[in-house]
Amino acid sequence: MNLDALNKVALAMTAPGKGILAADESTSTIKKRFDAIGVTSTEDNRRDYRELLFRSAEGMRYISGVILYDETIRQKAKDGTPLVELIKKAGAVPGVKVDKGAKPMALAHEGEVITEGLDGLRERLIEYRGLGARFAKWRAVIDIGKGMPTRNCINANAHALARYAALCQEQEIVPIVEPEVLMDGDHDADRCFSVTEQVLKTVFNELFEAHVMLEGMVLKPNMVIAGKKCAKKSTVEQVAEQTVTVLKICVPALVPGIAFLSGGQSDEEATAHLDAMNKIGNLPWKLTFSYGRALQHAPQTTWKGRPENVAAAQRAFAHRAKMNSLAALGQWKSDMEKKAA
Ligand code: 13P
Repeated sequence: MNLDALNKVALAMTAPGKGILAADESTSTIKKRFDAIGVTSTEDNRRDYRELLFRSAEGMRYISGVILYDETIRQKAKDGTPLVELIKKAGAVPGVKVDKGAKPMALAHEGEVITEGLDGLRERLIEYRGLGARFAKWRAVIDIGKGMPTRNCINANAHALARYAALCQEQEIVPIVEPEVLMDGDHDADRCFSVTEQVLKTVFNELFEAHVMLEGMVLKPNMVIAGKKCAKKSTVEQVAEQTVTVLKICVPALVPGIAFLSGGQSDEEATAHLDAMNKIGNLPWKLTFSYGRALQHAPQTTWKGRPENVAAAQRAFAHRAKMNSLAALGQWKSDMEKKAA
């Protein structure tokens, strides 16, 4: 393992003022997004949409890395250029989602899931590296509800994340380690805090046992946020303060960067929270974004599958990317949103 090379990529992925574009929606997830804008999810439409993003020179200025799906990492743009080449030309690092999704966990508490995809992963990583991937992503899903998460679910998912991360580093691929505590329930922010703490401590313990080198990874966590159905909402400052606190308790300073998921927050919330955390300052790791929905909702609803909307969709993407870039530097202000609207 070449730790220097891994560390260089991890630092590039979390470079100041840049963040990661999560464009790794599975075929079924991108179909849901396309259904919402009235676009048929064909291979060509998926290619055209992703090409639109990767060819947005203005938007890509703020993007350090792009997470691709298996189909996309193999696709070529309309003119025959591999999409991976477009990403590299834009100065970003190509990466790929390698998990095979979260499946119901056998004999577990109802609703608990375990992420699959470890069998054959070494061989798949070798192939993905050949296709240009320099980092990978694996998402574990932890749901909060009555009597859950159980220790069983947290342990199994953390163990899988560590096995994945070790396999990645063996192939000189930087693992994005993503243990997502969902914001779907009616739990309050304090409960999210305690579950996130338990999950992150378990994950880092497993990473340590699996000999994963922390300098060569990126953490992709949730923020500490109340469930969508909880009446008691935290302020932006409370989200920032609780999230930074739990990260300081659990995440060793050796981890170069932390890139958050947006997890169903509104576009502006995701930006405001990241900005407030960076305004706290004096943190041992870089804090940036690795957003899917919070970067793509605006371009998708602008594009609607119509070629005449491509330039406007690229502007919508560039605006969100720029806002999040400023947030990664703690330099965002809410009136910057109004001016652009
Ligand atoms: P969201 O930002 O939409 O949560 O997606 C990020 C991601 O990659 C989830 O795995």
